[in-house]
Amino acid sequence: FGRHLRYEYSTPSTQILAHQWAREGAPEGAVVIAEEQVEGRGRMGRLWHSPPQTGIWMSLILRPPISLPEASQLTLLASVGVHRGIERVTGLPVQIKWPNDLMIQGKKVCGILTELRGEQDRIHYIIVGIGINVNTTGDHWPTELRSIATSLAIELGGTIHRATLIAAILEELEDFYQNYLQYGFPAIQKKWEQAAGMLGKTITAHTHQVAITGVAECLNEHGALLIRTERGMVPVYSADIDWH
Ligand code: BTN
Repeated sequence: FGRHLRYEYSTPSTQILAHQWAREGAPEGAVVIAEEQVEGRGRMGRLWHSPPQTGIWMSLILRPPISLPEASQLTLLASVGVHRGIERVTGLPVQIKWPNDLMIQGKKVCGILTELRGEQDRIHYIIVGIGINVNTTGDHWPTELRSIATSLAIELGGTIHRATLIAAILEELEDFYQNYLQYGFPAIQKKWEQAAGMLGKTITAHTHQVAITGVAECLNEHGALLIRTERGMVPVYSADIDWH
């Protein structure tokens, strides 16, 4: 991954550029990176704070031969790959929070946004947007973020060479992706469950309609989170999670 690379200093969002490039026929593995995003996008329509030269703001284009319901597996694959890359370079203890937030000591250090275009039985392309707070300091964030966000530099007590980290992450992502194409989801699922901080804990999943409280058990074969509730096992496909 990253053999085809587009680099911008400032852009509204690398997701937008990646969508354009994918529509124009960008090959699988193409990556868009920016130093700064002025309208960085988060999950659920939120903004993603992306100050210049402090983080890794990048979008990866994939063209997996899978169907729409399998796409969430790619989101989990992405969190496993980024997790491995960050651990390899920094040695920090990172945990995955379902579906794809990376946390250090309960604070968010990385978010992943997957967006796709396709039909039921065929995906045209998937854009995996990865945002990592690398050398961000508390001063870069508005007050409301300071208690819930952290950066690798804050946790490590020193700055990190972003290009080294980008290379490690793309390498890990490519490895996991090749493995996934060849052997399917089970290996990724296992890695995800090992890196997840929340399994076995009581959580509340806020979906669009309801809040579901129970014990986070494991993933199902589609990548949904299975929650054990008083009424039985409930699969959750899209939600925000609180832990107790
Ligand atoms: C989340 O809400 O946790 C997901 C955040 C994803 C942010 C990344 S930064 C690179 C890419 N471009 C965007 O506008 N968003 C993603």
